[in-house]
Amino acid sequence: MPEASDPDQGRIRLQKVLAQAGMGSRRACEELIADGRVTIDGEEAMLGDRVDPEVSVVEVDGVPIGIRPGSVYYLLNKPTGVVTTADDPQGRPVVVDLVPETPRVFPVGRLDLDTEGLLLLTNDGDLTHRLTHPSFGVEKEYLAEVEGTPGRGALRRLREGVELDDGLTAPATVGTVGPSVLRIVIHEGRNRQVRRMCEAVGHPVRRLVRTRIGPVTDHLLAPGAWRELTQAEVRALERAAAESATDEG
Ligand code: URA
Repeated sequence: MPEASDPDQGRIRLQKVLAQAGMGSRRACEELIADGRVTIDGEEAMLGDRVDPEVSVVEVDGVPIGIRPGSVYYLLNKPTGVVTTADDPQGRPVVVDLVPETPRVFPVGRLDLDTEGLLLLTNDGDLTHRLTHPSFGVEKEYLAEVEGTPGRGALRRLREGVELDDGLTAPATVGTVGPSVLRIVIHEGRNRQVRRMCEAVGHPVRRLVRTRIGPVTDHLLAPGAWRELTQAEVRALERAAAESATDEG
């Protein structure tokens, strides 16, 4: 919060940026800086430095923050009929079969068997935790093709909150893309949430596609295809997770 009123706008204390990227406590991050292990745009950082994390490349021991050595981050366009798990007891196709076998990665959160779209897979357990823990709320955007044409009342209910059997949903951003196609942005991650929300307002989902996870999107990735996240995308995800945690607190 002090940064919001700081004259040095957009520039955040380096130790805070490092801590948000999961490099340890602020105190541990100060030690990294004091030990000369941190650079900003290639120059050795000093205690007291501030950076704009949108612009500057911050590295620890020569590795950009947000990228842990040995960590891989894949973005998969999950097709329908593939289970979001590493191993399915029923022997159905699973998402990890669609990406390289080694190093072993795990899905970040889940998409239903019949849901398509963007899914992250990684071996970075810390980022997975920070993106999936209920107290974090990184935005997820979906395109939902629904039965019928939702009217103003249904749209308002979706936006303001729908009573489900596990409680009222948080406010959502909902727009219409066509008479039966909604763009829905939620930051909760309840089981089958979008389907249950739409069903509750009388417009069951016929097709559901996730089109964005926080800052990460890709309209060109074909169903079943994957790519590695760029370093900038990993850093942006780290920031989105840190910001959503701050919002909650
Ligand atoms: N909401 C759903 O209903 N299903 C998903 O797979 C993701 C969000």
